Amino acid sequence: MNPTDTTPIYRPGLEGVIAAETALSHPEGAAGRLTIVGHAVEELAAQFTSEEVACLLWHGRLPTPVELATFKQQLSAHRSLPEATLDLLRAAASRAVPTMDALRMAIASLDLDLTPDQLEIGLVARTPTIIAAYGRLRQGQDPLPPHPDLDHAANYLYMLHGQLPSPAQVRGLETYLNTVSDHGLNASTFTARIIVSTDSDVVSAVTGAIGALKGPKHGGAPGPALDMVFEIGTAEQAEPYLRAKLDKGERLMGFGHRVYKVRDPRAVVLSQAAAEMYRAGGDMALYELAQQVEETAVRLLAEYKPGRNLQTNVEFYTALLLHGLGLPTDLFTPTFALGRMAGWIAHCREQQASNRLIRPLSRYVGP
Ligand code: ACO
Repeated sequence: MNPTDTTPIYRPGLEGVIAAETALSHPEGAAGRLTIVGHAVEELAAQFTSEEVACLLWHGRLPTPVELATFKQQLSAHRSLPEATLDLLRAAASRAVPTMDALRMAIASLDLDLTPDQLEIGLVARTPTIIAAYGRLRQGQDPLPPHPDLDHAANYLYMLHGQLPSPAQVRGLETYLNTVSDHGLNASTFTARIIVSTDSDVVSAVTGAIGALKGPKHGGAPGPALDMVFEIGTAEQAEPYLRAKLDKGERLMGFGHRVYKVRDPRAVVLSQAAAEMYRAGGDMALYELAQQVEETAVRLLAEYKPGRNLQTNVEFYTALLLHGLGLPTDLFTPTFALGRMAGWIAHCREQQASNRLIRPLSRYVGP
Protein backbone atom coordinates (compact mmCIF):
# COMPACT_ATOMS: atom_id res chain seq x y z
CA MET A 1 0.00 0.00 0.00
CA ASN A 2 1.18 3.55 -0.71
CA PRO A 3 2.52 4.84 2.66
CA THR A 4 0.57 8.09 2.25
CA ASP A 5 -2.67 6.19 1.65
CA THR A 6 -4.38 5.98 5.04
CA THR A 7 -7.57 4.28 3.83
CA PRO A 8 -8.27 1.62 6.48
CA ILE A 9 -8.12 -1.97 5.25
CA TYR A 10 -9.93 -4.90 6.81
CA ARG A 11 -8.04 -8.20 7.18
CA PRO A 12 -10.02 -10.85 9.09
CA GLY A 13 -7.81 -12.32 11.81
CA LEU A 14 -5.25 -9.57 11.02
CA GLU A 15 -3.75 -12.13 8.63
CA GLY A 16 -0.65 -10.71 6.93
CA VAL A 17 -0.78 -7.49 8.99
CA ILE A 18 2.40 -6.32 10.77
CA ALA A 19 1.20 -5.01 14.15
CA ALA A 20 4.50 -4.68 16.07
CA GLU A 21 8.26 -4.57 15.67
CA THR A 22 10.28 -7.04 17.70
CA ALA A 23 13.91 -7.98 18.21
CA LEU A 24 12.88 -11.15 20.01
CA SER A 25 11.97 -13.80 17.44
CA HIS A 26 11.33 -14.30 13.76
CA PRO A 27 9.25 -17.19 12.43
CA GLU A 28 9.62 -17.49 8.62
CA GLY A 29 6.61 -19.37 7.34
CA ALA A 30 7.72 -20.27 3.82
CA ALA A 31 11.27 -21.29 4.76
CA GLY A 32 10.24 -23.11 7.95
CA ARG A 33 12.82 -21.19 9.97
CA LEU A 34 12.63 -19.76 13.49
CA THR A 35 15.24 -17.37 14.90
CA ILE A 36 15.18 -16.36 18.57
CA VAL A 37 17.32 -13.27 19.38
CA GLY A 38 19.75 -14.14 16.59
CA HIS A 39 19.93 -17.88 17.33
CA ALA A 40 18.42 -20.62 15.18
CA VAL A 41 15.87 -22.54 17.26
CA GLU A 42 17.75 -25.80 16.57
CA GLU A 43 20.89 -24.42 18.25
CA LEU A 44 19.18 -22.55 21.08
CA ALA A 45 16.81 -25.34 22.05
CA ALA A 46 19.33 -28.10 22.40
CA GLN A 47 22.31 -26.22 23.84
CA PHE A 48 21.10 -23.60 26.30
CA THR A 49 19.45 -23.82 29.70
CA SER A 50 16.05 -22.21 30.19
CA GLU A 51 17.63 -19.58 32.48
CA GLU A 52 20.05 -18.63 29.66
CA VAL A 53 17.18 -18.30 27.20
CA ALA A 54 15.21 -16.09 29.64
CA CYS A 55 18.27 -13.81 30.01
CA LEU A 56 18.71 -13.75 26.23
CA LEU A 57 15.10 -12.67 25.74
CA TRP A 58 15.24 -10.04 28.48
CA HIS A 59 18.66 -8.54 27.73
CA GLY A 60 19.30 -9.35 24.06
CA ARG A 61 22.45 -11.35 24.82
CA LEU A 62 23.53 -14.42 26.74
CA PRO A 63 24.42 -13.81 30.40
CA THR A 64 27.97 -13.83 31.77
CA PRO A 65 28.61 -16.61 34.35
CA VAL A 66 28.16 -14.07 37.17
CA GLU A 67 24.91 -12.71 35.69
CA LEU A 68 23.61 -16.24 35.24
CA ALA A 69 24.44 -17.18 38.84
CA THR A 70 22.68 -14.02 40.10
CA PHE A 71 19.61 -14.75 37.98
CA LYS A 72 19.44 -18.32 39.29
CA GLN A 73 19.67 -17.05 42.87
CA GLN A 74 16.85 -14.58 42.23
CA LEU A 75 14.67 -17.33 40.77
CA SER A 76 15.45 -19.58 43.72
CA ALA A 77 14.52 -16.80 46.18
CA HIS A 78 11.09 -16.38 44.52
CA ARG A 79 10.16 -19.99 43.79
CA SER A 80 7.96 -20.71 46.84
CA LEU A 81 4.28 -19.83 46.70
CA PRO A 82 2.51 -17.48 49.10
CA GLU A 83 -0.07 -19.14 51.33
CA ALA A 84 -2.90 -17.22 49.59
CA THR A 85 -1.97 -18.77 46.24
CA LEU A 86 -1.74 -22.26 47.75
CA ASP A 87 -5.17 -21.79 49.38
CA LEU A 88 -6.56 -20.78 46.01
CA LEU A 89 -5.07 -23.87 44.34
CA ARG A 90 -6.48 -26.11 47.08
CA ALA A 91 -9.95 -24.60 46.56
CA ALA A 92 -9.61 -25.01 42.78
CA ALA A 93 -8.53 -28.67 43.15
CA SER A 94 -11.50 -29.42 45.41
CA ARG A 95 -13.79 -28.17 42.62
CA ALA A 96 -11.83 -29.98 39.85
CA VAL A 97 -11.11 -26.69 38.06
CA PRO A 98 -9.35 -27.36 34.70
CA THR A 99 -5.57 -26.89 34.90
CA MET A 100 -5.29 -23.82 32.64
CA ASP A 101 -8.02 -22.06 34.62
CA ALA A 102 -6.24 -22.88 37.88
CA LEU A 103 -2.97 -21.52 36.43
CA ARG A 104 -4.74 -18.34 35.32
CA MET A 105 -6.23 -17.79 38.79
CA ALA A 106 -2.96 -18.54 40.60
CA ILE A 107 -0.84 -16.30 38.36
CA ALA A 108 -3.36 -13.49 38.83
CA SER A 109 -2.94 -13.81 42.61
CA LEU A 110 0.83 -13.31 42.64
CA ASP A 111 0.83 -9.54 43.00
CA LEU A 112 -0.60 -10.06 46.50
CA ASP A 113 2.89 -10.55 47.89
CA LEU A 114 5.41 -9.48 45.23
CA THR A 115 6.60 -5.90 44.80
CA PRO A 116 6.60 -4.45 41.27
CA ASP A 117 10.40 -4.99 41.15
CA GLN A 118 10.02 -8.65 41.97
CA LEU A 119 7.08 -9.37 39.71
CA GLU A 120 8.83 -10.40 36.49
CA ILE A 121 11.28 -12.74 38.25
CA GLY A 122 8.47 -13.97 40.50
CA LEU A 123 6.25 -14.83 37.53
CA VAL A 124 8.97 -16.93 35.89
CA ALA A 125 10.09 -18.52 39.17
CA ARG A 126 6.63 -19.42 40.42
CA THR A 127 4.96 -20.70 37.27
CA PRO A 128 6.52 -24.19 37.64
CA THR A 129 5.71 -24.22 41.35
CA ILE A 130 2.05 -23.41 40.65
CA ILE A 131 1.66 -26.04 37.92
CA ALA A 132 3.44 -28.76 39.92
CA ALA A 133 1.46 -27.92 43.08
CA TYR A 134 -1.82 -28.06 41.19
CA GLY A 135 -0.81 -31.26 39.40
CA ARG A 136 -0.30 -32.93 42.79
CA LEU A 137 -3.33 -31.41 44.54
CA ARG A 138 -5.61 -32.70 41.79
CA GLN A 139 -4.39 -36.20 42.57
CA GLY A 140 -4.92 -35.80 46.30
CA GLN A 141 -1.19 -35.31 47.02
CA ASP A 142 0.39 -32.47 48.98
CA PRO A 143 2.41 -29.91 47.03
CA LEU A 144 6.18 -30.24 47.41
CA PRO A 145 8.34 -27.24 48.29
CA PRO A 146 11.01 -26.33 45.70
CA HIS A 147 14.32 -28.23 45.98
CA PRO A 148 17.04 -25.78 47.10
CA ASP A 149 19.71 -27.25 44.80
CA LEU A 150 17.78 -27.60 41.55
CA ASP A 151 17.42 -25.12 38.70
CA HIS A 152 14.26 -24.03 36.91
CA ALA A 153 13.51 -27.03 34.66
CA ALA A 154 14.78 -29.72 37.04
CA ASN A 155 12.82 -28.21 39.93
CA TYR A 156 9.59 -28.40 37.92
CA LEU A 157 10.01 -32.14 37.36
CA TYR A 158 11.06 -32.64 40.99
CA MET A 159 8.08 -30.69 42.42
CA LEU A 160 5.75 -32.66 40.16
CA HIS A 161 7.06 -36.19 40.63
CA GLY A 162 8.84 -35.99 44.00
CA GLN A 163 11.97 -37.59 42.53
CA LEU A 164 15.24 -36.17 41.27
CA PRO A 165 14.99 -36.14 37.45
CA SER A 166 17.71 -37.72 35.31
CA PRO A 167 20.01 -35.42 33.24
CA ALA A 168 18.31 -36.77 30.06
CA GLN A 169 14.88 -35.80 31.41
CA VAL A 170 16.06 -32.31 32.36
CA ARG A 171 17.65 -31.85 28.92
CA GLY A 172 14.44 -33.04 27.25
CA LEU A 173 12.35 -30.55 29.21
CA GLU A 174 14.78 -27.67 28.64
CA THR A 175 14.79 -28.38 24.91
CA TYR A 176 11.00 -28.15 24.96
CA LEU A 177 10.85 -24.97 27.08
CA ASN A 178 13.46 -23.25 24.89
CA THR A 179 11.72 -24.32 21.69
CA VAL A 180 8.47 -22.62 22.71
CA SER A 181 10.09 -19.64 24.49
CA ASP A 182 9.04 -17.10 21.88
CA HIS A 183 7.30 -17.06 18.52
CA GLY A 184 6.64 -13.68 16.96
CA LEU A 185 3.23 -12.10 17.36
CA ASN A 186 1.24 -15.22 18.19
CA ALA A 187 -2.20 -14.76 19.76
CA SER A 188 -1.15 -14.93 23.43
CA THR A 189 1.86 -12.64 22.94
CA PHE A 190 -0.30 -10.13 21.08
CA THR A 191 -2.80 -10.29 23.93
CA ALA A 192 -0.04 -9.49 26.44
CA ARG A 193 1.21 -6.59 24.33
CA ILE A 194 -2.30 -5.14 23.96
CA ILE A 195 -2.78 -5.25 27.72
CA VAL A 196 0.48 -3.45 28.59
CA SER A 197 -0.11 -0.96 25.77
CA THR A 198 -2.87 0.53 27.95
CA ASP A 199 -0.20 1.10 30.68
CA SER A 200 -1.68 -1.83 32.60
CA ASP A 201 0.70 -4.19 34.43
CA VAL A 202 2.60 -7.34 33.51
CA VAL A 203 0.60 -9.67 35.81
CA SER A 204 -2.58 -8.62 34.01
CA ALA A 205 -0.78 -9.09 30.68
CA VAL A 206 0.38 -12.65 31.32
CA THR A 207 -2.96 -13.55 32.90
CA GLY A 208 -4.64 -12.49 29.65
CA ALA A 209 -1.98 -14.34 27.64
CA ILE A 210 -2.74 -17.56 29.54
CA GLY A 211 -6.41 -17.14 28.59
CA ALA A 212 -5.46 -16.81 24.92
CA LEU A 213 -3.05 -19.76 25.02
CA LYS A 214 -5.70 -22.10 26.40
CA GLY A 215 -7.72 -22.38 23.18
CA PRO A 216 -7.23 -25.39 20.86
CA LYS A 217 -6.31 -23.11 17.94
CA HIS A 218 -3.26 -22.01 19.95
CA GLY A 219 -1.77 -23.93 22.91
CA GLY A 220 -4.62 -26.29 23.70
CA ALA A 221 -3.87 -28.88 21.02
CA PRO A 222 -1.18 -31.23 22.43
CA GLY A 223 -3.45 -33.12 24.86
CA PRO A 224 -6.00 -33.94 22.13
CA ALA A 225 -3.10 -34.75 19.72
CA LEU A 226 -1.80 -37.43 22.08
CA ASP A 227 -5.30 -38.74 22.81
CA MET A 228 -5.67 -39.17 19.04
CA VAL A 229 -2.47 -41.28 18.84
CA PHE A 230 -3.68 -43.46 21.71
CA GLU A 231 -7.15 -43.85 20.20
CA ILE A 232 -5.59 -44.89 16.88
CA GLY A 233 -3.58 -47.53 18.73
CA THR A 234 -2.02 -49.35 15.73
CA ALA A 235 -0.48 -48.17 12.44
CA GLU A 236 -3.23 -49.93 10.39
CA GLN A 237 -5.93 -47.93 12.18
CA ALA A 238 -4.34 -44.56 11.35
CA GLU A 239 -5.86 -44.10 7.91
CA PRO A 240 -9.48 -45.16 8.64
CA TYR A 241 -9.50 -43.20 11.91
CA LEU A 242 -8.13 -39.99 10.36
CA ARG A 243 -10.36 -40.28 7.28
CA ALA A 244 -13.41 -40.62 9.53
CA LYS A 245 -12.46 -37.42 11.34
CA LEU A 246 -11.81 -35.49 8.12
CA ASP A 247 -15.05 -36.81 6.58
CA LYS A 248 -16.89 -35.30 9.56
CA GLY A 249 -15.13 -31.96 8.93
CA GLU A 250 -13.07 -32.19 12.14
CA ARG A 251 -9.60 -30.69 12.47
CA LEU A 252 -6.60 -32.89 13.22
CA MET A 253 -4.89 -31.54 16.32
CA GLY A 254 -1.18 -30.87 15.87
CA PHE A 255 -1.45 -29.99 12.17
CA GLY A 256 -1.76 -26.68 10.30
CA HIS A 257 -0.41 -23.26 11.20
CA ARG A 258 -1.25 -19.65 10.33
CA VAL A 259 2.41 -18.83 9.57
CA TYR A 260 4.16 -22.10 8.65
CA LYS A 261 3.24 -23.63 5.32
CA VAL A 262 6.02 -26.24 5.63
CA ARG A 263 6.81 -28.47 8.63
CA ASP A 264 7.06 -26.25 11.73
CA PRO A 265 10.80 -26.07 12.62
CA ARG A 266 9.84 -26.59 16.25
CA ALA A 267 8.27 -29.93 15.31
CA VAL A 268 11.63 -30.92 13.81
CA VAL A 269 13.51 -30.02 17.02
CA LEU A 270 10.96 -31.71 19.27
CA SER A 271 10.67 -34.89 17.19
CA GLN A 272 14.46 -35.33 17.49
CA ALA A 273 14.44 -34.55 21.21
CA ALA A 274 11.55 -36.98 21.75
CA ALA A 275 13.33 -39.68 19.72
CA GLU A 276 16.45 -39.33 21.89
CA MET A 277 14.42 -39.48 25.07
CA TYR A 278 12.35 -42.49 24.00
CA ARG A 279 15.46 -44.33 22.75
CA ALA A 280 17.12 -43.72 26.12
CA GLY A 281 14.39 -45.60 27.96
CA GLY A 282 10.88 -44.83 26.74
CA ASP A 283 8.14 -46.63 24.85
CA MET A 284 9.75 -46.66 21.39
CA ALA A 285 6.67 -48.36 19.91
CA LEU A 286 4.61 -45.28 20.83
CA TYR A 287 7.14 -43.00 19.16
CA GLU A 288 7.04 -45.10 15.98
CA LEU A 289 3.24 -45.14 16.00
CA ALA A 290 3.24 -41.33 16.31
CA GLN A 291 5.54 -41.09 13.29
CA GLN A 292 3.15 -43.26 11.27
CA VAL A 293 0.17 -41.17 12.41
CA GLU A 294 2.03 -38.01 11.38
CA GLU A 295 2.89 -39.37 7.91
CA THR A 296 -0.70 -40.50 7.33
CA ALA A 297 -2.19 -37.22 8.63
CA VAL A 298 0.00 -35.05 6.37
CA ARG A 299 -0.85 -37.23 3.36
CA LEU A 300 -4.60 -37.12 4.05
CA LEU A 301 -4.59 -33.38 4.77
CA ALA A 302 -3.03 -32.82 1.33
CA GLU A 303 -5.83 -34.94 -0.17
CA TYR A 304 -8.72 -33.34 1.78
CA LYS A 305 -7.42 -29.74 1.81
CA PRO A 306 -5.37 -29.42 -1.39
CA GLY A 307 -3.33 -26.23 -1.65
CA ARG A 308 -3.60 -25.48 2.08
CA ASN A 309 -0.14 -26.90 2.89
CA LEU A 310 -1.21 -28.31 6.24
CA GLN A 311 1.88 -29.69 7.94
CA THR A 312 2.86 -30.88 11.41
CA ASN A 313 2.98 -28.06 13.98
CA VAL A 314 4.79 -27.75 17.31
CA GLU A 315 2.00 -29.39 19.28
CA PHE A 316 2.22 -32.90 17.86
CA TYR A 317 5.69 -33.73 19.18
CA THR A 318 5.17 -31.57 22.27
CA ALA A 319 2.61 -34.17 23.26
CA LEU A 320 4.99 -37.04 22.77
CA LEU A 321 7.89 -35.36 24.55
CA LEU A 322 5.89 -34.27 27.58
CA HIS A 323 4.22 -37.68 27.82
CA GLY A 324 7.71 -39.23 27.84
CA LEU A 325 8.56 -36.98 30.80
CA GLY A 326 5.64 -38.47 32.74
CA LEU A 327 3.36 -35.44 32.48
CA PRO A 328 -0.41 -36.06 32.35
CA THR A 329 -2.09 -34.59 29.26
CA ASP A 330 -3.86 -31.80 31.13
CA LEU A 331 -0.48 -30.39 32.20
CA PHE A 332 0.72 -30.04 28.58
CA THR A 333 -0.78 -26.58 27.95
CA PRO A 334 0.25 -25.22 31.37
CA THR A 335 3.79 -26.43 30.59
CA PHE A 336 3.61 -24.52 27.30
CA ALA A 337 2.74 -21.42 29.38
CA LEU A 338 5.76 -22.13 31.57
CA GLY A 339 7.99 -22.18 28.48
CA ARG A 340 6.44 -18.98 27.08
CA MET A 341 6.42 -16.94 30.32
CA ALA A 342 9.82 -15.21 29.86
CA GLY A 343 8.91 -14.52 26.21
CA TRP A 344 5.59 -12.88 27.14
CA ILE A 345 7.40 -10.70 29.68
CA ALA A 346 10.10 -9.79 27.13
CA HIS A 347 7.35 -8.65 24.73
CA CYS A 348 5.74 -6.60 27.51
CA ARG A 349 9.08 -4.89 28.12
CA GLU A 350 9.53 -4.25 24.41
CA GLN A 351 6.03 -2.79 24.14
CA GLN A 352 6.55 -0.59 27.19
CA ALA A 353 9.90 0.68 25.85
CA SER A 354 8.28 2.26 22.77
CA ASN A 355 4.60 2.14 23.54
CA ARG A 356 1.74 3.22 21.36
CA LEU A 357 -1.72 2.19 22.56
CA ILE A 358 -2.85 -0.75 20.38
CA ARG A 359 -6.25 0.34 19.18
CA PRO A 360 -7.39 -0.84 15.71
CA LEU A 361 -10.70 0.02 14.09
CA SER A 362 -13.77 -2.06 13.43
CA ARG A 363 -16.03 -1.90 10.39
CA TYR A 364 -19.64 -1.25 11.33
CA VAL A 365 -22.02 -3.71 9.67
CA GLY A 366 -24.96 -3.20 12.03
CA PRO A 367 -28.28 -1.48 11.39
N1 ACO B 1 -7.15 -30.36 10.26
C1 ACO B 1 -8.03 -30.30 9.23
N2 ACO B 1 -8.25 -29.19 8.51
C2 ACO B 1 -7.54 -28.10 8.81
C3 ACO B 1 -6.61 -28.08 9.86
C4 ACO B 1 -6.42 -29.28 10.58
N3 ACO B 1 -5.54 -29.35 11.59
N4 ACO B 1 -6.05 -26.85 9.94
C5 ACO B 1 -6.64 -26.12 8.98
N5 ACO B 1 -7.55 -26.87 8.31
C6 ACO B 1 -8.36 -26.46 7.17
C7 ACO B 1 -9.53 -25.57 7.60
O1 ACO B 1 -10.66 -26.32 7.92
C8 ACO B 1 -9.72 -24.73 6.37
O2 ACO B 1 -10.38 -25.49 5.41
P1 ACO B 1 -11.49 -24.82 4.44
O3 ACO B 1 -10.78 -23.73 3.72
O4 ACO B 1 -11.91 -25.95 3.58
O5 ACO B 1 -12.57 -24.30 5.33
C9 ACO B 1 -8.29 -24.55 5.85
O6 ACO B 1 -7.55 -25.67 6.32
C10 ACO B 1 -7.61 -23.27 6.36
O7 ACO B 1 -7.79 -23.19 7.75
P2 ACO B 1 -7.79 -21.85 8.57
O8 ACO B 1 -8.61 -22.04 9.80
O9 ACO B 1 -8.10 -20.67 7.70
O10 ACO B 1 -6.27 -21.71 8.95
P3 ACO B 1 -5.73 -20.83 10.14
O11 ACO B 1 -4.49 -20.19 9.65
O12 ACO B 1 -6.73 -19.93 10.75
O13 ACO B 1 -5.48 -22.00 11.19
C11 ACO B 1 -4.79 -23.31 12.96
C12 ACO B 1 -4.36 -22.30 11.89
C13 ACO B 1 -5.80 -22.64 13.89
C14 ACO B 1 -3.57 -23.70 13.78
C15 ACO B 1 -5.41 -24.55 12.30
O14 ACO B 1 -4.49 -25.13 11.40
C16 ACO B 1 -5.93 -25.57 13.29
O15 ACO B 1 -7.05 -25.44 13.80
N6 ACO B 1 -5.11 -26.63 13.59
C17 ACO B 1 -5.51 -27.65 14.55
C18 ACO B 1 -5.29 -27.16 15.99
C19 ACO B 1 -3.81 -27.04 16.34
O16 ACO B 1 -2.98 -27.89 16.00
N7 ACO B 1 -3.50 -25.95 17.06
C20 ACO B 1 -2.11 -25.63 17.47
C21 ACO B 1 -1.51 -24.57 16.60
S1 ACO B 1 0.19 -24.31 16.93
C22 ACO B 1 0.23 -23.13 18.13
O17 ACO B 1 -0.51 -22.19 18.16
C23 ACO B 1 1.22 -23.21 19.19
